[in-house]
Amino acid sequence: MKMPCLVIPLLACLCLLASRSSPAYGATTSSGLHPIILVPSYTCSTLDARLTDEYRPPPGMPWCGAMKGKGWFRLWKNYTALQDPRLMPCYADQLRLVFDHAADDYRNAPGVETRVVAFGTTRGFVDDPATKDGENLFGAPFDFRYAAAPPGQPSKVFDSDVSRLRRLVEHASSKNGGKPVILISFSFSGHLALQFLYRTPLRWRQRLVKHNLLLSRGVGGEVVLLKIFAAEDAGPSSNVLFYANTSRSFASPLTMLPSPKVFGRAPPLVVTRDKNYSAFDLTEFLADVGFSDAAARYQRRALPVTLAIRAPLVPTTCVVGVGLPTPVQLTFWDGDFGKMPQVVNADGNGDVTLKTVLAWRTVIENDPDQGYFKLVLLPNVTHNGVISDDFALKQLVEILAAVNQATS
Ligand SMILES: *[C@@H]1O[C@H](CO)[C@@H](O)[C@H](O)[C@H]1NC(C)=O
Ligand SMILES: *[C@@H]1O[C@H](CO)[C@@H](O)[C@H](O)[C@H]1NC(C)=O
Ligand SMILES: *[C@@H]1O[C@H](CO)[C@@H](O)[C@H](O)[C@H]1NC(C)=O
Ligand SMILES: *[C@@H]1O[C@H](CO)[C@@H](O)[C@H](O)[C@H]1NC(C)=O
Repeated sequence: MKMPCLVIPLLACLCLLASRSSPAYGATTSSGLHPIILVPSYTCSTLDARLTDEYRPPPGMPWCGAMKGKGWFRLWKNYTALQDPRLMPCYADQLRLVFDHAADDYRNAPGVETRVVAFGTTRGFVDDPATKDGENLFGAPFDFRYAAAPPGQPSKVFDSDVSRLRRLVEHASSKNGGKPVILISFSFSGHLALQFLYRTPLRWRQRLVKHNLLLSRGVGGEVVLLKIFAAEDAGPSSNVLFYANTSRSFASPLTMLPSPKVFGRAPPLVVTRDKNYSAFDLTEFLADVGFSDAAARYQRRALPVTLAIRAPLVPTTCVVGVGLPTPVQLTFWDGDFGKMPQVVNADGNGDVTLKTVLAWRTVIENDPDQGYFKLVLLPNVTHNGVISDDFALKQLVEILAAVNQATS
């Protein structure tokens, strides 16, 4: 799935909203606006790292330890390092996660410490932060390599990102006269937004969250992700996320796999001559593409979280593009998962299928406690188009203006 960080057009759109704050929109100054918190998408947050004495460079690459004891440096995204073929493997090694069986949790590779840059602001994910940053516009970057774990299983980093978001919501609201916040997430970051909402007490949530706006996101994962898992070995070796199975070591991609609840047993999502895989067979699929370690983590940690997706119980709007060919089935006929598959498409935004988008209706509308929910389908708008096409941005401004003046 293509998941760039282009929040700049969206920010421009938010500034437009602020400038439109007139009596017609229920506010005379920008301070009449509800504070907005943006949660950037997958790979959009900036991460710094520090190497301790414990760090062991990959075999044959002693230069990867050059930053040892030299303090914090930019790990993601460090454009200089990622364009240097000698350094790229170092960054892949330092970015990967390991699963610590004793702690029953993911953590950084030994000797690597990381931190998210510029939490609370949009500086960590845009080059040109909006002028309202820190007043009524806030950013919640997070460590996108981690994901939620089911109750009873530790997920230390994700949980601390959730707690930090909670404190940011409180701060943003109190800085704006106690007004509840509008939470905007895009693509993968909807995972953090929803899990965050689930984990707050209902009364806190309903007092402090004015609206939950989910952009380019369906319920519980997409078929297009299977392609990444299948072909990672064959992925571009110049991409740090593919090099040495880097992104396969993360917790997050496993939470984006298609949900059995939405896709059911038929038709199959992956077809080969000898064997087909439905959404119920993804553990087997991961093992068959050579990733039995990830298969176990998927089965035990990611799948239960996917199956537990439910209504957030705060006013929610989902905005997604439709009308574009979107993968729903991959055929690796001769069973060679390293090759590019033949793809069967159906309706969607190019990445997110209409099926998972419409599933929001079942998940959210079936809950009598949900309250306001709206699904906005934008014809011919791509995954990223939702935050960059003029047509889509105009819709977002309308939605935000309405949300801002809504009384409940
Ligand atoms: C990027 O990586 C290079 C090579 O490791 C390092 O020298 C540089 O300081 C890093 N950039 C930042 C901004 O930390
Ligand atoms: C990536 O994972 C595959 C399957 O487990 C393994 O065969 C391969 O050696 C790994 N690649 C690297 C560079 O570690
Ligand atoms: C796999 O699925 C395809 C398409 O639904 C079907 O035609 C084929 O018979 C199935 N093959 C196996 C091995 O079950
Ligand atoms: C979507 O784009 C296609 C191809 O450009 C065009 O034929 C079609 O009319 C468009 N549909 C809508 C609803 O805009």
